[in-house]
Amino acid sequence: MKIYKVASYEQMSQEAAKHILKVMTEKPNALLGLATGSTPVGMYQALIRETRATGFSWQHIVTYNLDEYVGLDALDEQSYAHFMNVNLFDHVSIDQAHVHIPNGKAEDLEAECRAYEASLKTAGGVDIQVLGIGRNGHIGFNEPNDAFEPYTHVVHLDEKTIEDNARFFESKEKVPKTAISMGVESILSAKKIILLACGKEKAQALYDMLYGPITPQLPASILQKHGDVEVICDEAAASLLKGPFDV
Ligand code: F6R
Repeated sequence: MKIYKVASYEQMSQEAAKHILKVMTEKPNALLGLATGSTPVGMYQALIRETRATGFSWQHIVTYNLDEYVGLDALDEQSYAHFMNVNLFDHVSIDQAHVHIPNGKAEDLEAECRAYEASLKTAGGVDIQVLGIGRNGHIGFNEPNDAFEPYTHVVHLDEKTIEDNARFFESKEKVPKTAISMGVESILSAKKIILLACGKEKAQALYDMLYGPITPQLPASILQKHGDVEVICDEAAASLLKGPFDV
């Protein structure tokens, strides 16, 4: 894995956007694997700015998001579908038919998971996957567990995740307890992965992901098996890492 330590959140966002822009420029119909949460917001802003400045057309870009809460539809302000519209899709020329986010309101959630996974495969696989990391080492909503979940699945959210995500809701009680998430094999099948981390709360998870054993108790550790992962982190998130760092 390559590790880029940068000085600020802004630099992390710029650097991440640069990686995605490179893929999009080389392949105008690229398939992007996208994440939500606080971490990638600045990256989406940089992507909007840069593609507007260059006149890049998003028309043939395809996106698949990692996860969605169960029980929330796209109109719900706490849904990840809404997050993606507000933070990216409303500001670029993407074709909504090319946007894919698991349907958290599906009547048959298991069927929704199977259909999402099949659709991802048929689309040809992710060219570049963006990941954040949870304090508990989750990627997507792959929570610490006794075994890795390979494919898109319904997941019961970890107590730590519910606590962390309560900041987006009126109260902790309002955070959905279940979600749909791509699995670790779905994530590992991406050609390239960039993982973004900022803040000291992520330092331990990042350390364990890089130097610890590969274990489903720290789901991000599975990334050690992928041949093309670039970690872009600020100094606080990198504070436990030994280096040397890539530049
Ligand atoms: C969200 C996702 C999660 C977040 C992680 C970090 O789509 O996949 O794994 O990346 O929970 O969230 P933030 O960035 O809010 O710290």
